[in-house]
Amino acid sequence: MGDSALFRERLSDYQGRVHAMLDRALPPTSEPPLRLHEAMRYAVLGGGKRVRAILAVATGESLGAEAECMEPAACAVEFIHAYSLVHDDLPCMDDDDLRRGVPTCHRAFGEATALLVGDALQALAFETLAHAPVSDSGELVRVLARASGSRGMAGGQAIDLESVGRTLTLDQLENMHLHKTGALIRASVRLGALCAGARDPEILDRLDEYARCIGLAFQIRDDILDIEGDTEVLGKTQGADVALDKPTYPSVLGLDASRAHAHALHERASEQLAPLGRDADFLLALSEFIVDRKS
Ligand code: IPE
Ligand code: IPE
Ligand code: MG
Ligand code: MG
Ligand code: MG
Repeated sequence: MGDSALFRERLSDYQGRVHAMLDRALPPTSEPPLRLHEAMRYAVLGGGKRVRAILAVATGESLGAEAECMEPAACAVEFIHAYSLVHDDLPCMDDDDLRRGVPTCHRAFGEATALLVGDALQALAFETLAHAPVSDSGELVRVLARASGSRGMAGGQAIDLESVGRTLTLDQLENMHLHKTGALIRASVRLGALCAGARDPEILDRLDEYARCIGLAFQIRDDILDIEGDTEVLGKTQGADVALDKPTYPSVLGLDASRAHAHALHERASEQLAPLGRDADFLLALSEFIVDRKS
């Protein structure tokens, strides 16, 4: 289903539903402080593939839950992701001018507002997650907090900054990617499963391994696209990693071996889904999409 018309249709249907959820969960631009709320909506609603939110919803659905059960978790992971992009683009980090085909948040609203957008989206993520219809929302908060903080995404970003101009071993590179990008993708799947009430340790472990593989593959593909992608299609500046001398999979392994590695991760991810049968068809196709995507 990965590249089929059916997959594209389901993906775009999910994207539309996620957009509507995010729109509902964000403060309106009519509410003060107007500029901050406008900038938050700019950073979240202006496009994006919505992979993390969709993973949360589709994982829960593959376990038999209704989409509404996963809505707060789906919004929460997407808010953390959007905040991470706003901060990632700041001049003190990757210094990027283009995101999702439009000026980056700090380019459009100024650095101070972009900083506050990140702060506010992070807080909104946890406020939203606390509304998840589960008996133990504390567990959800722990999962998302761990994935976002110094032992997750923020930690991975710190490793990324420390690594500029250095040559990393493959293990170090994998560790960086598993943190800066993998942690939140893993949390998205975990939260989807928890919101669906999944308790079977074997299923949870398999979904976790699926998520670990696609999270790593996601950043490998991002690194590849930085080299062979097209700014117009990517919606962000091609060649940014090379310009900043960032260690990436292609810089360490070369393009062909990076592609092969991403495909091997997709294979391993697919194997994990076997016990879920047809219910996991969309998750399987999403993994294929992640390793072959053009943007
Ligand atoms: C870009 O993420 C940053 C990474 C973690 C690689 P996405 O490729 O998911 O960005 P959007 O949300 O679709 O714009
Ligand atoms: C970003 O990685 C990971 C985040 C936590 C945001 P990149 O710096 O490679 O993401 P892009 O290429 O700017 O989207
Ligand atoms: Mg970065
Ligand atoms: Mg960047
Ligand atoms: Mg990148």
